[in-house]
Amino acid sequence: HHRHPSSSFQPLISSATTLNNKKQIYVPSHPLSKHWLAVARNKLSPPPVFRSALAELGRILLYEAVDGWLPTVEGRVETPTGVADCTFVDPSQPLVVVPILRAGLVLLESASTLLPASRTYHVGYARDEGTLQASAYLNKLPARLSAEDRVLVVDVMLATGGTVVQVVEDLVSRGASDANIRVVAAVCAPPALQALGERFGKLRVYAGMIDAELDERGYIVPGLGDAGDRAFGT
Ligand code: URA
Repeated sequence: HHRHPSSSFQPLISSATTLNNKKQIYVPSHPLSKHWLAVARNKLSPPPVFRSALAELGRILLYEAVDGWLPTVEGRVETPTGVADCTFVDPSQPLVVVPILRAGLVLLESASTLLPASRTYHVGYARDEGTLQASAYLNKLPARLSAEDRVLVVDVMLATGGTVVQVVEDLVSRGASDANIRVVAAVCAPPALQALGERFGKLRVYAGMIDAELDERGYIVPGLGDAGDRAFGT
């Protein structure tokens, strides 16, 4: 009886077009990740329950997304009984957090308290329900980024990929490198993963689950519905 290894990276697309076998998507196998996703999926969960489930899932995804990525510095700390060699997260290189409104605010609620140093730049995208095209109504990104900036994009639902592709393209046009961009999502679907994988070969995605498909309105099935509406009771 052998144990499964903990989650591992998989290519963004597991079907025919495997993009040179690149491992770009990570789905935690942690039972709490699965549990809080289940609570968020449940249509009977009211907004306060939905929000706290999304925030807990986001906390787990955030821990995974920054593992081995945050820069650290060595130091020493005096304890009450001695001196300890310590490793700190380098406060001089704050993580750039880009939540996509509205639901991104809820999923990465914990980022500002879990990360010793971060800068948050909000972007808002709204979808035309007819064309399914997303367009920006808010963009607080800095004029310039550098390839060394570590950028965490928070898009709760990666469905068609229309929004997240625009945001990552915008980040790259401002100087960020896809090798230093990570996307956190509660649920994602193959069209978005395909769109990201084709354009950004080094970007990584950390998601609660990969669902099978989209419906005719572009919603993920089974998904969890309209994440923004459910988080804010609208
Ligand atoms: N946006 C949502 O909120 N839910 C989906 O299923 C797809 C896009």
